[in-house]
Amino acid sequence: MANILIKHAQIVTMNKQEEIITGDIRIKDDLIVEMGSGLVPQEGEKLIDASNRTVIPGFIQTHIHLCQTLFRGKADDLELMDWLRKRIWPLEAAHDEESLYYSAMLGIGELITSGTTTIVDMETVNHTDFAFQAIAASGIRALSGKVMMDQRGGDVPEALQEDTAASLQESVDLLEKWNGYGNGRIQYAFSPRFVISCTEPLLREVRDLSARYNVKVHTHASENLGEIEIVQAMTGMRNIVYLDHLGLANDRLILAHCVWLDAEERRILHERGVHVSHCPGSNLKLASGIADTPGMLDQHISLSLGADGAPCNNNLDMFNEMRLAAIMQKPQHGPTAMDARTVFRMATIGGAKAVGMEQQIGSIEVGKKADLAILNLYNFHTFPSYDVDPISRIVYSATRADVETTIIDGEIVMEKGMLKTIDKET
Ligand code: GUN
Ligand code: FE
Repeated sequence: MANILIKHAQIVTMNKQEEIITGDIRIKDDLIVEMGSGLVPQEGEKLIDASNRTVIPGFIQTHIHLCQTLFRGKADDLELMDWLRKRIWPLEAAHDEESLYYSAMLGIGELITSGTTTIVDMETVNHTDFAFQAIAASGIRALSGKVMMDQRGGDVPEALQEDTAASLQESVDLLEKWNGYGNGRIQYAFSPRFVISCTEPLLREVRDLSARYNVKVHTHASENLGEIEIVQAMTGMRNIVYLDHLGLANDRLILAHCVWLDAEERRILHERGVHVSHCPGSNLKLASGIADTPGMLDQHISLSLGADGAPCNNNLDMFNEMRLAAIMQKPQHGPTAMDARTVFRMATIGGAKAVGMEQQIGSIEVGKKADLAILNLYNFHTFPSYDVDPISRIVYSATRADVETTIIDGEIVMEKGMLKTIDKET
């Protein structure tokens, strides 16, 4: 952690008033300690001149699979269940410790260089400790966990099939090793893959463990019609109804996708405070469908964004997800349905709420963690003198190439495209 003074920046705060101001930000250790104009550099502070730069809260992606980064290009043009059976599960089963470490590192590098500072990540069945090692060394903020697959629904390959007790024990061992690590930068999240691959005793135990340790549960639900049919045949219920029946639907639950919901499921999501991670790129590429995000927002369901795994959309870039989240709704719901500010909110403070950290991250305010990205929006987009809403410019035209610096927990983890290894404990 460092002491940093950022001067002369345009700051997209995402505070309660969603103010956009021009000024300086002082960072001491992991925290933003002062904001204003004319702040005077103090001894030992690193000075960043952010003239003509825009500082934003780091993006929070609430659904990622770092273990899948190396599979890009190996799983294209398939629908979910075939994609899993034919490509993703065999590839995950083939991971060894080293390949998992590098898959995670490659993904984290892409995330950090494109301004993402926090992820909710799901690993594979084996070797998850090595993904945590990559997370620790990279400096990214992460909630992660080993995937749990103790049921052969959907033809899970032998190599990923695990015993219920072993799955739970390995998860708890990883939790005890990593939860709270690195100034709280790493948290454990139980990660039952989806209803199809998990037994009821496992899901009930996960519910109890998440309450006992006060950690999140991260899973997939109602992504694809074929998946929903299998869940219905196995449980006699729709996905969200089943999760609620088991007592899992609460504000510790982060659900990826939720493309296909009926009215009862929406009611459950709203009433229980479940957090939905919308993954537009993945939903389009896997032909899953178009989630009704305007409807979910109208119903006050907690919504945030994620890129899913690299082979789901070939890209872990939040700029891509924000843009898709906005434009894919417009033909059906009109031009203002998912406007730039709504989508940017989902990418920042919405993600912070999903991970239960809205007091710490998701906006740029005194007392919050210093998790932010510095953008040069004058790269190719427009002339500096143009008076353009920076949020609109970020959502509709910015790219990862515009991210100059990423800071997480007060540490500069990327500067001018160069990543830095942070962790001194491993
Ligand atoms: N459902 C179960 N597993 C997966 C996965 O790895 N990716 C996606 N997109 N959906 C899933
Ligand atoms: Fe996923």
